Amino acid sequence: MSKAGRLVVLVSGSGTNLQALLDATADPSYGAAVVAVGADREGIEGLARAERAGVPTFVERLKDHPTRAGWDAALAARIAEHKPDLVVCAGFMKILGAPTLEAFPVVNTHPALLPSFPGAHGVRDALAHGVKVTGCTVMLADAGVDTGPIIAQEAVRVFDGDDEASLHERIKTVERGLLVDTVGRMVREGWTVTGRTVRIGK
Ligand code: GRF
Repeated sequence: MSKAGRLVVLVSGSGTNLQALLDATADPSYGAAVVAVGADREGIEGLARAERAGVPTFVERLKDHPTRAGWDAALAARIAEHKPDLVVCAGFMKILGAPTLEAFPVVNTHPALLPSFPGAHGVRDALAHGVKVTGCTVMLADAGVDTGPIIAQEAVRVFDGDDEASLHERIKTVERGLLVDTVGRMVREGWTVTGRTVRIGK
């Protein structure tokens, strides 16, 4: 098999999507390796998961930079040190700037069926709207808030009595599988983008 694709994964929280990727990459046939994990904050379980897996980590905090542009450039430089084939935002709660988006393909995951309910509260907003089906979306990141071309989606039913936490947990179970499957296929098979349509494979 050809050389494993190099993934840099960005996290801001508990890192269960990161963990799913780390677990998947243990099998060489998956075709990818997590070469570094970056975060925008210290002390999160996502970084601890990387450390336990022996994966190098870095933290670039927005508040340590006088300007957003400075943070954007610093983050892109930290990512570039690891020469990724693909950057994966796995619960990374910041919009990436041009220095990263122009240098690397970036995949993002969102706990709603885009273009419905973008933003930081996709699960809460879907629930408040009263939808009966929601889900998760894996997309290519662009400069907007969850506006990039959609790569894969999977639906999740909303149950009577769901609250934000129960629904998010059920979505995350599906989301982890979708992210692992999509990233693996992208690194193994490549992808094309025509307009807003993404196709995995040659
Ligand atoms: C995921 O649902 C992601 O889409 C959202 O935050 C959650 C991150 O979960 N933005 P985890 O940190 O991977 O456990």
